[in-house]
Amino acid sequence: MLNPLIPALVVAPMDGITDAPMRTLLGEFGAFTYAVSEFVRVSSVPLSAKAFRRAVPELLADGRTPSGLPVQIQILGGDPERMALSAFEACAAGASAIDLNFGCPAPIVNRHDGGASLLRHPARIREIVAAVRAAVPEPVAVSAKLRLGWDTTDSIDENAAMAAEGGASWLTIHARTRVQGYRPPVYWPCIGKVRADLGLPIIANGDIWSIEDFRRCRDETGCIHYMLGRGALADPTLPKRIAVELGIRSGEPPQTDWVKLFERFVELMADDSERGRSRTLCRLKQWLLLSHEHGELRCFHELKRSKTLPEFFGGLVDWVETTSSRQAV
Ligand SMILES: Cc1cc2nc3c(=O)[nH]c(=O)nc-3n(C[C@H](O)[C@H](O)[C@H](O)COP(=O)(O)O)c2cc1C
Repeated sequence: MLNPLIPALVVAPMDGITDAPMRTLLGEFGAFTYAVSEFVRVSSVPLSAKAFRRAVPELLADGRTPSGLPVQIQILGGDPERMALSAFEACAAGASAIDLNFGCPAPIVNRHDGGASLLRHPARIREIVAAVRAAVPEPVAVSAKLRLGWDTTDSIDENAAMAAEGGASWLTIHARTRVQGYRPPVYWPCIGKVRADLGLPIIANGDIWSIEDFRRCRDETGCIHYMLGRGALADPTLPKRIAVELGIRSGEPPQTDWVKLFERFVELMADDSERGRSRTLCRLKQWLLLSHEHGELRCFHELKRSKTLPEFFGGLVDWVETTSSRQAV
């Protein structure tokens, strides 16, 4: 999945956003190396292989999206034994790499001993990673995704060292603490310090919204691997531009054709029921909001009241035409 020596650009797991249709679409961009699945939560009983196939349908197709992007399975939980048994089942379902979530800030998850709450217990991070490492076949890589800490950024040094001691093959670090939620700033230099101290491949993550952000993140972390989440949706040309800078692909990407892109997403959602269509509409609005706030498609207020997909697309086409004729003047 990750070759330590070859630069990589990874699709961030985003629960409720980067589901299977979205992973397929992002794979079609041709810029990403692999994707990490949304977290699959291990609670009171270990998960079965069947549960993993249901949660991550790519497992039925050699662990790849129809567009060919490999998908790594992410699990979340605080009990080493249940995490280990679940990871074993994920492998039985076809997983070729497992990622462990030590970053989720959701209060309900944290109250149940999962995600970022483990950042307050470094030794438990080591225990969970080691238990999972011991349970899965040797060729299966085990990685961990961490935030910098619960409420202080310097916890990352010990937590990352513990994950490494447990046997993690690489770490992804989201450069914020749990208490920050998704609020700025990000502390990229902390990632750089872990990379220099640990000698383990590190994937840098957090708040890369533009090519300038990417360059700053690269300068401050010294990493060759990056994970991109919201920025890829806010500006769909960004993954390709980063991939060019990383030497993964060549050629400048064309401007985004938003209408075509959204139409493709609707096609991939492929649920023609009334409920399915309204869910797809919600997803498009969610996407639009991200781009409105951080990208180039600034028409959320115009489209947020659309009640049907045709109404949404009608408004979008009008907006795109008006904007491009304004630019042409
Ligand atoms: C809605 C949402 C859902 C997320 N779900 C997950 C998840 O399931 N697992 C995980 O490790 N991180 C999750 N994250 C965190 C992202 O993977 C990523 O670390 C974070 O968004 C920062 O990267 P970005 O600035 O490139 O988006 C989620 C983030 C968002 C916004």
